[in-house]
Parts: sequence; C-alpha cells; structure tokens
Amino acid sequence: MDSLYFSHIKSLTSFYQDTLERFQLDQIIIASGTKSYYFQDDYTHPFKPYAYAQQWLPFDVEPDTFIVISNHSKPTLIWPLKEDFWHAQQNLPEGSWSDLWTIKPTRANENWADTIKGKTMWLGQDIAGLSDKFGRYDKTLAWLDYHRAYKSDYEVDLLKQANVRALKGHHAAEKAFFEGKSELDIYLDYLRTSQQTSPQEPYSGIIALNQNAAVLHYEHKQIQSPDKFRTLLIDAGAKVTGYGSDITRTFTTDNNLFNELLCKMDQIQQSLANKSIAGTDYKALHATCLTEIANLLQESQICSLSAEEQISKGITQTFFPHGLGHLLGLQVHDVGGHQVTPEGDILKPPSSAPFLRLTRKLEENMVITIEPGLYFIPMLLEKMQQSLPQHGCDMALIKTLIPFGGIRIEDNVLVKQNISENLTRNS
Ligand code: GLY
Ligand code: MN
Ligand code: MN
Repeated sequence: MDSLYFSHIKSLTSFYQDTLERFQLDQIIIASGTKSYYFQDDYTHPFKPYAYAQQWLPFDVEPDTFIVISNHSKPTLIWPLKEDFWHAQQNLPEGSWSDLWTIKPTRANENWADTIKGKTMWLGQDIAGLSDKFGRYDKTLAWLDYHRAYKSDYEVDLLKQANVRALKGHHAAEKAFFEGKSELDIYLDYLRTSQQTSPQEPYSGIIALNQNAAVLHYEHKQIQSPDKFRTLLIDAGAKVTGYGSDITRTFTTDNNLFNELLCKMDQIQQSLANKSIAGTDYKALHATCLTEIANLLQESQICSLSAEEQISKGITQTFFPHGLGHLLGLQVHDVGGHQVTPEGDILKPPSSAPFLRLTRKLEENMVITIEPGLYFIPMLLEKMQQSLPQHGCDMALIKTLIPFGGIRIEDNVLVKQNISENLTRNS
C-alpha cells in the first residue's frame, strides 16, 4: 500500500504542478470542508470531505483541513489543532506517508492563509471568505475534473478493497432475504457484515423487497417483514479511504418468468461489462443495452414489437428508464462524466437516454459502473398505455410481474486496453 500511495502522490503532485504552470497559478489550496448544521439545530449533517482533499491523503479526512500545492516544494498539510471537549479529536495518523508532506499543525486563530502570496486557486467550500480572497478558476476546475476519471493504481486498489468489503455485506443480505428478514434487518446485517455505520456508506444502501424494487432509489427500510418474499434488490456499497463501491444484486424466490428475466439480465450485464474496454463509446454501449433489453422483452412475450420499434416509441425505456452507469471513484457519480474535453466541453446525453451520466469514450484506467435494469413501474406503465395505444405489451402478463418490482445488476469495472477487469466479480 505504501508504494502505491507513494507513486500516487508522486504523479498527483507532478500533475498539479503541470496544472499550475498551464494556468499560470502559484498555488492551489484545497479545503476539506467544514461541518454544516441542520436548519435551526445544533446537530450537524454527517461530514463528507471534499473529494479533491481526500484524493491526497491515505486516511479519512477531517473537517477544517487544508492542502496547499505549489511548484516549489512538497504538498503542505494544514492540520487543525482543535480544543473541543465535546467531540473526539483525530490524531494525525502515523506512518511513512508523512515523509511526502510538509505538515503544519495549526490552531483556528492562526491565520495561515495570510502567509500565502501570489496567484492562488481556492478549491472547495468557502471558509470565512477565503475563496474570494484567493479565487475560483472554472477552467482549471474543469481540467482537474476531467482527469479525475483516470485512476492511479492506488485508487484502483482502494476501489477493489471497497468491493471486497461491500460484497461481504451483499452475501449477508442474500442470506437474510432467504431467511425471511425485513428490509431493516437485511440492512442491519449488511452494515454489520460490511463493517460500517450508515453515515460511512458511500450512499445510503437501497434494500427493496418485492414491489419496492421498482423504485429506483428506494429510501425506506420497512421494519415489518412482508407476507410473501418475491424479490430483494440491494444496491449498496462501502468506502475505503474515501473510495466507494456501488454494487447492485437482485435475488428472487421465483422459479418462473421473473427468474428467467433475472438470469437473462445477468448475461446481458456481464456481456456489457466485458465490452467496457478502451475505445468503446459509452453512449453506444448504452444503446446496445437498450437493444438487448428490447430483444428480451420481445423473446419473453412482454412486448410483441421489434427492438427497433420499441426503442423508437420509447417502450423499452419504460422498463429501463435510467442510464447504463457512470464514472466511479471518490464520488459515487464521479465528476466529469459529461465532460468530453479537458477544456470543459460538455456532451449532454441523447434525448433517448436523458439520464445517462457518462457520455465519454471509455479510456484506460477509468472505473465505471455497468448497471442495466428492467423494472415494472406502475407510473411509467400507465403513462405508456395512455400515450401509446399501439404499445404491443401484454398487460395481463405484466400485471403478474408488477409484484416483483424489478431487476438491477451492477458491477464496478476497470477499463483497460482490449480487456476489462470486473472489480466486483474478480475481487
Ligand atoms: N447507487 C446509485 C447508483 O447506482 O447510481
Ligand atoms: Mn448503485
Ligand atoms: Mn451506480
């Protein structure tokens, strides 16, 4: 781990130093962020450090931490010394990582920012007007965002570890489902086995039983078990040093059509993951996914129309209304997914796939998700029936599938030349 971290910092430092030169800056200051309070309350939101600060440090970054990168020296860590007997204080983690840093333990009343001279970019949440004192540079930010897509070996290693950790939880959740536990109990088994508290998750885990699986970002955890167990859709990850996994699995007790659809969706998902190699246009991969799902709808007699006709009428999109996936890293939906040049040019998703979060061509060392879905969402089905009388769908058959909710299967994939590495299935 040390050697991966060392080379990560070496290349990140040289990338930032090139960035300073390119944009004629003397420094970049990165703020980790500060705690924020609930409205008219003295309790804070769970703290999540700014991704650009976390990218530099091999431990979970605390609030009120600053990083200064200049052209002439090692990166500087402004480490907050706090006098606060209400909360636990984090000691500076020990280890050889600190050899790469100039560390300045600093009290809140010490005006470290006054010593910074020259043209300086402020990166992060404003703290006490410092972002105005220095400056925000949108073009530089776009440049940094674009390059965040390419992961170093250190970052890939953390993403692999985040997969291993989450998968332990997924296995526990599968077991809990077949034992007949409630959404809440499945969630608690997931958290315990993946060794995390809920605020430590990369996003709040989705634990959806039966028809709840049709709600894409279902946010509840029912305390009561349902009378009948049909489906578990679990979309849940884990973080390691800020890097999060994002994994979805669907399980069913069914032995008929829903189970057949689930097996076919797994095949489609794996073939798309295998196609995620350098040079592939992700928009085209999404279009392939849509065609495969349309073929599946036709083969299973859910819709009698050809794939082409289904897609042109928006029928397949009724069953698969979201995008194929996204960039993954320090943020679940990592930055820069629509940014097709380092200068900041944006390519919006096509109108046939308005929720597609990634429109870039895949390149080596990107980490992405591949997450096709097939859902029976009453709201969208009603809309389809109202707007398209010639929809060709067997509504009686669909009615039998609605209680199962839906299917999503999601893996995290490292893009390489000529091959992809599935971090979820191979970790
Ligand atoms: N868990 C959110 C997503 O899959 O994008
Ligand atoms: Mn997910
Ligand atoms: Mn995802």
